Amino acid sequence: MIPELSIMEKAKVITTIPGWREKVPEFRKEGKTIGFVPTMGAIHKGHISLIERSVSENDVTLVSIFVNPTQFNNPDDFNNYPVTFDEDIRKISEAGAAYVFYPDHEDLYRDNYRYVISEKSLSKILCGAFRTGHFDGVLTVVLKLLLISGADRAYFGEKDYQQFKLIEGMADAFFLDTKIIPCPILREPSGLALSSRNALLSEQGKAKAPLFYQHLKRSATIEEARKKLAASGFEVEYVEEHFNRRFGAVYLDSVRLIDNVPLTLKGV
Ligand code: PAJ
Repeated sequence: MIPELSIMEKAKVITTIPGWREKVPEFRKEGKTIGFVPTMGAIHKGHISLIERSVSENDVTLVSIFVNPTQFNNPDDFNNYPVTFDEDIRKISEAGAAYVFYPDHEDLYRDNYRYVISEKSLSKILCGAFRTGHFDGVLTVVLKLLLISGADRAYFGEKDYQQFKLIEGMADAFFLDTKIIPCPILREPSGLALSSRNALLSEQGKAKAPLFYQHLKRSATIEEARKKLAASGFEVEYVEEHFNRRFGAVYLDSVRLIDNVPLTLKGV
């Protein structure tokens, strides 16, 4: 039997800012739209769902990989962040994206992080209350990346719902040309939301992690969710309700997991 031929085109990796910027006017001239998916690498199916959406809605898709130090409030978390570059390029290429932007820290932070985007309200609750400076780092890097990308549309997962709302608000506040598009949370069949940090869980942790989603979704009240999570061995950082959603952050095996569910799903 003749083996099936792979017609996958490998994504082109661009490491400099001008390397991408000079392409943008060419795409514009050809009337091509640009979709952009910013990531920190360790690509999983959640990222892939964003990339596939971009590929289906745009002529050209750019995926960035940059583990952004300014958004890590804990140096151990930054140092332990999984890096799987070659695998990432393969998965991104398979999903149909033509370009990967993989910038240098010195290039992106040529100002040495002297200029910072801060939001004063939503960024102070939920994750922002526990991760000082986190959303400053996120918003600053995302503004840089969006401006470099020149994208028509940029895709963000509802897994990080607070992040999505803050980026959407920033795009509106600063009149950015890029449309910010939310994408649904991709989950394991067990309900566990896909996350790069899941790879850091022990075997026992992996078996227990789906209870995070189950308790968040099924509990009648915030208090009940907190109690059930604690009883199942999670260290609860917060369970709160905003935007008609229930949000949670927990530690399991010293790995921080976040998730959120629409309140209409509660008790299902
Ligand atoms: P990262 O954690 O790599 O996530 C990149 C994008 O994938 C984010 O928009 C995130 O919400 C989305 N995503 C992650 N898991 C998902 C899942 N299970 N279902 C759907 N979407 C999912 O978020 C970041 O990187 C960074 O903060 C970044 C925006 C790149 C700025 O540094």
